[in-house]
Amino acid sequence: MARLKVAALISGRGSNLQALIDAAADPTYPAEIVLVLSNNADAYGLQRASAAGIATLVIDHRGKERPAFEAEIDAALRRNGVELICLAGFMRLLTAGFAERWRDRILNIHPSLLPAFKGLHVHEQVLAAGARFTGCTVHVVRPEMDAGPIIAQAAVPVAPDDTADSLAARVLEAEHRLYPLALRLVAEGRAIVEGDLVRLERVAAAETSLLNPTR
Ligand code: GRF
Repeated sequence: MARLKVAALISGRGSNLQALIDAAADPTYPAEIVLVLSNNADAYGLQRASAAGIATLVIDHRGKERPAFEAEIDAALRRNGVELICLAGFMRLLTAGFAERWRDRILNIHPSLLPAFKGLHVHEQVLAAGARFTGCTVHVVRPEMDAGPIIAQAAVPVAPDDTADSLAARVLEAEHRLYPLALRLVAEGRAIVEGDLVRLERVAAAETSLLNPTR
């Protein structure tokens, strides 16, 4: 079966990218990363991609209007036959035009249980609110920031002595399990966008614990 051609857009560390690369190293995984694109030439994720033999491209956003920046990205994606975009720590907002052009074909991972705690400094927000649970979300991207149909979430309990850093580290572990699973569901046609919601089909009982891991 042909694997879904995926581009990952990153800006930094790329640990979620690594989780996707590791999953796709299995030839039976239904998606392959064909391109890693960064707006930042120093992003460590570019080294991860090169080490895995994946094509990389840097498109600097500086000194450009957003539509011009995105037109370069769009051209690179099309040149590489990309079918789906995975945002993985990509720190630029996308215009509504780009989001619409790739409607239902952009995924993002966010380190909270959306729709709670959007934006930046998420773990600080969680602690400041006194939330007892947090987690992470993989969702389909809509033009509004950190919004769109939810594919999968993982819950992570907040410990009384947690700091933003300790919480970030535990949530990140959950992210690394969740993103490959969510991408698998999309690539296998088991996560179907219906308006503002995603309907899951043919999810085995054993996968339910993977969909909502609390480890
Ligand atoms: C992750 O916490 C992700 O949820 C958020 O940005 C961070 C990226 O980390 N969108 P990494 O670059 O994948 O290590």
